Amino acid sequence: DERGMILQDLAGRELLITAGGTREDLDPVRFLANHSSGRQGWALAHAALVRGARVLLAAANVDLETPPGARRLDVGSAADLAAAVTEHRRGVDALVMAAAVADFTAAEPSREKIKKDESEGDSVPTIALRRTDDILRHSVLDRGDGERPAIVGFAAETGGNGSSALELARSKARRKGADLLVFNDVTAGVFGSPDNAVRILDGDGGEVAEATGSKTVVAHAVLDELAGRLPQVPW
Ligand code: CTP
Ligand code: CA
Repeated sequence: DERGMILQDLAGRELLITAGGTREDLDPVRFLANHSSGRQGWALAHAALVRGARVLLAAANVDLETPPGARRLDVGSAADLAAAVTEHRRGVDALVMAAAVADFTAAEPSREKIKKDESEGDSVPTIALRRTDDILRHSVLDRGDGERPAIVGFAAETGGNGSSALELARSKARRKGADLLVFNDVTAGVFGSPDNAVRILDGDGGEVAEATGSKTVVAHAVLDELAGRLPQVPW
């Protein structure tokens, strides 16, 4: 990549990038999942490697080849991903939360397969859910002033309840308090598509950049903003 040859602006940096979508077991054969393919996280990893960074990829159920040069940790559930992030985030320069993390998990996954015929007549089981930990929020709260890592979140929003997708993203950016929030308007649907249009917000909900194009174009736009926000290297 031509750009990487002239732009080694992430040399000496390490990024922890989460990618894919978590799976929450309901019973030994079933899970709750989402449509995230991992492609945006992969594009970020490729782009960061080209710009000279070291990359640790926490991959939640991603069926893609590991980008050459990246270290990969495979995880399944939101709890697994939280454990991987907790273990590694203090040692990296930036945490990029591109993974789609389940908001809810089974309160008590069944140890046996849930059987249709054990419910009476046409009745259906009720599956109790509980909230998962908010990995991004927790990482922001746990970080001290001026400490690593810089933190980037992603939000796919549709408008609703009288608010536009952008308004919801702005308030999410303020609520999460990450250094950057990459907002994708999915009112028209986007999962699995190769192209993307994003706005990059800061922690106050202000728009700092926008990008339209392939996931690679979006990845470089995110890294352009991130590069300027990394804690200083004490040379
Ligand atoms: N995220 C996280 N842990 C969770 C849920 C989300 O770290 N349990 C991260 C995602 O990886 C993403 C960001 O938070 O980078 C925003 O995710 P999103 O689902 O848009 O935000 P939520 O706070 O879960 O709000 P919503 O009700 O819109 O799903
Ligand atoms: Ca969510």
